[in-house]
Formats: sequence, structure tokens, C-alpha cells
Amino acid sequence: MISTHRPKYHFLPPQNWMNDPNGLIHWQGEYHLFYQHNPDAPFWGNMHWGHAVSPDLVHWRHLPIALAPTPGSPDADGVFSGCAIDAKGAPVFFYTGVFPEAQCMAVGSHNLSEIVKYAKNPIIPEPPPGLELAGFRDPFVWQEDNHWWMVIGSGIEDYGGTVLLYHSSNLTHWEYVGQLYSRSQNETDPLYTASMWECPNFVRFDHSNKRLLLISACDFLQPKYTVAMLGDYTDRQFQPEKIQKFDHGDNIYYAPQVFKDDTGRTIAIGWISEDRPPEYAEQAGWAGLASLPRELKLSSSGELLISPIDELKQLRLNHKTASYQLNKGDKSDLFTGVESGSVEYEIQLKYVEPVELLFSIAFDTDDSEKLTIVINTRDGVVKVDTTIASADQNIPGNLRDCPIVNQGNDLSLRLFLDRSVLELYVNDRTVMSARYYPVNPDISNMRAELKSGRECSIIASCYGLKSICL
Ligand code: FRU
Repeated sequence: MISTHRPKYHFLPPQNWMNDPNGLIHWQGEYHLFYQHNPDAPFWGNMHWGHAVSPDLVHWRHLPIALAPTPGSPDADGVFSGCAIDAKGAPVFFYTGVFPEAQCMAVGSHNLSEIVKYAKNPIIPEPPPGLELAGFRDPFVWQEDNHWWMVIGSGIEDYGGTVLLYHSSNLTHWEYVGQLYSRSQNETDPLYTASMWECPNFVRFDHSNKRLLLISACDFLQPKYTVAMLGDYTDRQFQPEKIQKFDHGDNIYYAPQVFKDDTGRTIAIGWISEDRPPEYAEQAGWAGLASLPRELKLSSSGELLISPIDELKQLRLNHKTASYQLNKGDKSDLFTGVESGSVEYEIQLKYVEPVELLFSIAFDTDDSEKLTIVINTRDGVVKVDTTIASADQNIPGNLRDCPIVNQGNDLSLRLFLDRSVLELYVNDRTVMSARYYPVNPDISNMRAELKSGRECSIIASCYGLKSICL
């Protein structure tokens, strides 16, 4: 198995394919992660639920496959995405069986070593009548007002994405309530939201009446991106006030699942896909991984705050610091000969007037393979360029923008690099995931150059991060 690009502190299965995280639950003091998994090959197909457990949401131990298709049953062609709930002391799972798409239930044993499918599946055999729907999948369930509620992702033909709302008093009998929210695919302000929505998540922030609706927007089965909508929920209908991309890496980050842990935090884990030809995944023997867990909060002014969970700091191995005052045109080596492809950079910038600051992370001495990150505080964007990160012409890379929100005269960045996956957090408000595949990701040099603006001070830390496998 080619391991050069295999991440060390991002979760991925021992081998073969993964896509969406499923069934996230904090159960009996441990975190359980299930995920869409093809156990036979590093490409999508034959969907099972893989399973892993963690004491701290950071270190993971692989467990046997939790759910597999049952011949002759509603999930004979695959166990698609779904969620987990604590149903008054019992762990209960909901997922979509295919084909046709129908909602199914399963109950876990007390230590979650076994999950038994409900004998009378499916619990919702077909979409509500009278609607021309495209897709009917990915149940997300929560409890509120002494009722159980479920949302399911779908699209209305020739209109756009929709989320269908159901309720139940006993978890097995579900009634259709109506459309929680639908949005025309002709609307593009502030964002196009595609023709169909997968993997809806609907959560309330404690101490606030605001709700977050996360949907993964797709067109013709092609992931576009995940959209976060913040707004109000009245009379069983959601009305968004703010609509934004949840991750600016577009289709690279998709289908997150949100859950609340026993400490009351709202946490999201998404699927980060490959950005290289499928034959490379065949050779490597693996494809797809889970993002770092992200904590979601609301700021006092009602903005969505997104930050990597604090527990990740325990992975830090060694610490180097650099601090510079750059004037226009200055270049400086911040960190040279960094000896692990699995690192975190924490960077604070201060400036008196708008700046354009370029960071480059070069994987060899002649600069032929490098990532660049350009911070342009005048335009309010960070540009992440992976187009020359790999000398391999079959891996063209991308150039993508991440907006800067909450700008003053300073900026904070957290940059996670893990051999072929990058996550960049800007001011704990916007995030971008990306993939890059240099020939040797394990040694790098980080440089900074002030392209415009009078001066900029940089205080940076570099940490090697440990592996997360238990
Ligand atoms: C999202 C998705 C879900 C579906 C699952 C199948 O990536 O398409 O809608 O349940 O993946 O693997």
C-alpha cells in the first residue's frame, strides 16, 4: 500500500473507501463514529457502516463493521447515511436503505458492540404523496417538546432542494408534517443551493432560539458543497437569515454530521474526499477521510463560529515559534526543514493598513512543489492555491477563495497540514479544506512575503502532530 499521502491525524478506515460520517454519538463516556464504507475497494459502492470508537474524539480505535446490507430486505443494495440518538437510555440508529430509498431503524446493544436492525423495516417506506421528489434519504432525528422529529433530504423536481419534516411519538410510526424549508435553484443570492439536498442536520444552539440547518447541496448526484443556514424555526418551518458555505473547499468537504456531546458542545465531522485520479486510490488502497471535529457556536452577534475542537492540542509534539515584523517587499523564512508532513501552524497577524501577505509551503528546495496561501485583507479573502503542489500533471490542484469575516487590524489562522489534506481556519469563522499531493510531503519550508501594505507583524507557532490511531 502506498502510504506517502496517508494522513496521520485525520481519521480514515484501515483500508478502502469512506464517505459520510454517520451515527455520531457520545455514548457511555466514549465517542462512536460510524461512516459510509465500501469494505471491498477504494471506490464508492456496496455501502456498509464502518465503526470506530474514541475516548476523546481525537484518538480512534477501529471496530468491526456495524451495519451491512441484508439480502431481500429494504437495505439489500446498501446501508446509506443516517444518525444515532439516545432514546431514553437505548442507542437507536436511523439510516436510508436502498433501493428504492426508504428510512430504516436499528437498535444498538448497550456497549454498541452489536446493532440489530428493526424487524419491521422500513419505518418510512416511501416519500410523501403529491410531491415530485428527487431523492429521499439521510434521516436526522432529534427530540423536542416530548416528540421525536426527523428531517430527510430531498429535492423538488424543477424547483430545488428541500428538507422534509416528520414526527413520531414512538420512533417506529412516523407522520409527515411538511417541508421544513425549500429553496429554488434559481436563487443565487448569496449562494446557489443546487437541485437536491443530502444529509440535512437541524440543531438549536443552547441559550438561543436560533437554528442551524446544514445541507449538502448536489446536482445530478455530484456534490457541490455544504451550506450552513442560520435562522428561526416557527410553526414547524425554518426561515433562514444567513446562508453561507460551511467549508470553502467546495466538493472536497461534504456531508458533515452534527451531534451534541455530553459536555453540551455542538460538533460537526465531515467527509473529505480525494482530489486525484481514481487509479491512484486503487494503488494506495484507500480513499476518503473524516475532517477534524469542529466545534460550532454562535457569537454574541449571531455569527456562526467554527473551530477545531480543543482536544486536538494534545496531539502537539514539539513547538517552534517565529516572530517577524515585515515591511513591504520583505521575505522571510518562518520555518525551514520542518520534518513531519503532519503539522499545525497557528499564526497571528497584525497590520496597520490592508496587506497582501503570501505564505508558501515548499516541499523541496527548488520550490517546484508548493502550496501557497495569500491573505488579502483589502479584498477580504484568503486564496489557497494547490495548483503547483504536485509535480504530477495528473493532479492539477485548485485555486479557491475563503472569505475573511470579522476583520479588524488583525487576523488569526490555524493551518492543519496532514500529508495530503489541509484544513485552514480563518478567525474561527470561515474554513477551507483542500487536498495536495507532493512527491514527498514530509519535509517542508514555510516562507512569508509581504507583497503590499506598509507593514505586518507575524507571530507563528509550528507543531508536529502525533498519529491518532489507538
Ligand atoms: C452523501 C451521500 C448520501 C448517501 C450516501 C451514500 O455523500 O450521497 O446522500 O446516503 O452518500 O453513500
